[in-house]
Amino acid sequence: MSEEKFTKRILCIGAGYVGGPTMAMIAAKCPKYKVTVVDINEDKINAWKSDELPIYEPGLLEVVKQARGRNLFFSTELEKNIKESEIIFVSVNTPTKTFGEGAGKSADLQYWEKCARDIRGSAESDKIIVEKSTLPVKTAIAMERILSENDKGLHFDIVSNPEFLAEGTAIRDLENPDRVLIGSKETESGLKARESIVEIFANWIPRDRLITSNLMSAELSKLVANSFLAQRISSINSISALCEKVDADVSEVAFAIGKDSRIGNRFLNASVGFGGSCFKKDILNLVYLCETFGLYEVAAYWESVVKMNDYQQNRFVQTINSALFNTVTNKRIALFGFAFKANTSDTRESPAFYVTKKLMEEKAHVVISDPKALKNAKMDLKGFNDLIEYEEDPYKAAHKSHAIAVLTEWDLYRELDYEKIYKEMEKPAFIFDGRNILDHQKLFEIGFNVYPIGKPHLIHFKEV
Ligand code: UDX
Ligand code: ADP
Repeated sequence: MSEEKFTKRILCIGAGYVGGPTMAMIAAKCPKYKVTVVDINEDKINAWKSDELPIYEPGLLEVVKQARGRNLFFSTELEKNIKESEIIFVSVNTPTKTFGEGAGKSADLQYWEKCARDIRGSAESDKIIVEKSTLPVKTAIAMERILSENDKGLHFDIVSNPEFLAEGTAIRDLENPDRVLIGSKETESGLKARESIVEIFANWIPRDRLITSNLMSAELSKLVANSFLAQRISSINSISALCEKVDADVSEVAFAIGKDSRIGNRFLNASVGFGGSCFKKDILNLVYLCETFGLYEVAAYWESVVKMNDYQQNRFVQTINSALFNTVTNKRIALFGFAFKANTSDTRESPAFYVTKKLMEEKAHVVISDPKALKNAKMDLKGFNDLIEYEEDPYKAAHKSHAIAVLTEWDLYRELDYEKIYKEMEKPAFIFDGRNILDHQKLFEIGFNVYPIGKPHLIHFKEV
């Protein structure tokens, strides 16, 4: 299609887990729009142009291929692309600050602010700027101030369109979302900008799922949605600790309470803890926001969700340590999975990282296995690489090990030949199922000592 035939020119700054898949879906569904994704990282852009995409996400390559070269383009050229687009999505990273005021809690906005300044510097016409990254409430207002301080007489409307996709199911979530939220100022031009963004998604999503709100509500809803989801996991994880004490089974409890339609049955899987780039960061953002307004009780309430998650991860390591006769030193421990959840290569905030670090501190010999995340695991554990073994094949990882710890719920771990694995392990052999995905009774019958989460331990000798 020639340039003139495109009815909208959309730019996305940031080609990560959110920007890449979201823009690929928009381009695939809207062939009349020109969609360009830019990133400062040249290697990442080159990967987006190839068949080895920089992130693993089921179904993503097919969607990218549908539109790439037709109306979907990847580039490192920021200035030219800012000039020629009417709508700019900003999807750069907003990690938790590691320094200064708000360190450990508030979001580091340096990447976002740089984008705003780049846009202001290069723009030659009015634009709609769409916040895609999760940001602290009121960021839109700050951005508007930076952008409106231009001497070219340009007008910028800020729209908040938080992303609710989950990794591993991004394509399904983008194609058929529960809702899309679009927030803007309720001025004449703000409402017009809002409608422009609604128009994009209306190409494939029914109108009744396109929710609109004011700017603050949209920004806050994203933090609150993630905080509620994480809270459910911390709630069931807290109960898993109790189940282990009273011989209850957390899966049975979750099933029983989930049948109550007011509670619902999703997001009730007890685990070694939640990970991912969003949950902890967003809760801590909410905590910081509450503290800023003097709402200390509210802040403490939400912070306890993170504390419970830390407790659960720590409890898992303690279980390993005490089961292995209070010493893991020099013992070979195979970790099945390093990604923060199945079907992604992402390892950000993965419980596996915490577990590895703790086991390393105890001088265990850790062997990490994962079908997609080994590259990221190696980067995360740069300082320890000489001491850790990386082995994609789970059979080889488990060979001669004292224990296996399942940390990611990859399907492949359900289907392994555990008789074969057991034969090749040191005895007594232990398995710690941090995701409750294995057939515990069968493993016990094979000979393993089995430690699920929130269920009775199945052991062949008396626990001391
Ligand atoms: C989350 C939100 O779901 C998504 O809407 C938002 O846009 C980004 O943050 P994501 O981090 O990709 O998505 O993964 P999610 O499926 O929510 O899982 C987060 C963590 O919780 C994972 O570590 C997962 O293993 C864990 N989890 C999830 C549980 O431990 N138990 C559950 O029942 C569900
Ligand atoms: P998310 O999970 O929110 O998508 P990622 O870290 O996967 O976060 O992606 C964010 C991307 O934004 C990274 O690829 C990073 O290189 C890119 N980025 C950060 N700052 C800029 C910038 N000023 N211009 C272009 N790209 C940027």
